[in-house]
Amino acid sequence: MPETKNSRVAQADADPMFIERWSPRALSPEPLSEKEIMALFEAARWAPSAYNDQPWLFRYAATEAELKQFRNILMERNLLWAGKAPFLAFLFARRKFNHNGQPNNWAVFDTGAAWMSLALQARKMGLYAHAMAGIKKEEAYRILDVSEEDYEAVIGIAVGRYGDPQLLPENELVREKYNMRRDISDIAVKGLKKTE
Ligand SMILES: Cc1cc2nc3c(=O)[nH]c(=O)nc-3n(C[C@H](O)[C@H](O)[C@H](O)COP(=O)(O)O)c2cc1C
Repeated sequence: MPETKNSRVAQADADPMFIERWSPRALSPEPLSEKEIMALFEAARWAPSAYNDQPWLFRYAATEAELKQFRNILMERNLLWAGKAPFLAFLFARRKFNHNGQPNNWAVFDTGAAWMSLALQARKMGLYAHAMAGIKKEEAYRILDVSEEDYEAVIGIAVGRYGDPQLLPENELVREKYNMRRDISDIAVKGLKKTE
């Protein structure tokens, strides 16, 4: 299926993989291979973390029977498109450090790094990863039997190949495009004071 044209404009010479990663909703139901799934987690595994604690926990589904259960954790608006994805994951962050049992204030930050590694690896393999805040956290703990005391449910993730955008509901179809970013000058300030 031809993909939406990438209208993004680079402001500096970074690797194109950053500008080519995006979050489509038109995902094909075609299954991911075990090899592809393991490559996603291999990428995530090498993410950096405070004290190398690796606080991330991915719970994932890739068979129809598993996906059916996992879909119950998605909020309605996400279910409309992510319900077709051949791979769903819920990402948790372990609240306490392994080495001393103290609260890990960087757990969610580090878990975000693992997500981004997975997302970039997906794109390298011709797949798309789409993060979702719109999840039912209580259901994530309950259905996946993950301790809320020990873990924070952070996001859901849908992964798949690009599908047919015409199958999206109308209000999702209009959002099916590459979006833009703030200028580098808005997000990076050199020295002590921003010059206007
Ligand atoms: C933490 C997080 C939560 C998100 N939650 C949702 C969501 O619930 N539903 C959705 O359709 N997209 C969601 N997105 C996708 C963002 O809208 C998207 O990443 C953002 O608009 C930038 O677009 P791009 O990923 O295509 O570059 C989420 C992304 C992140 C990183």
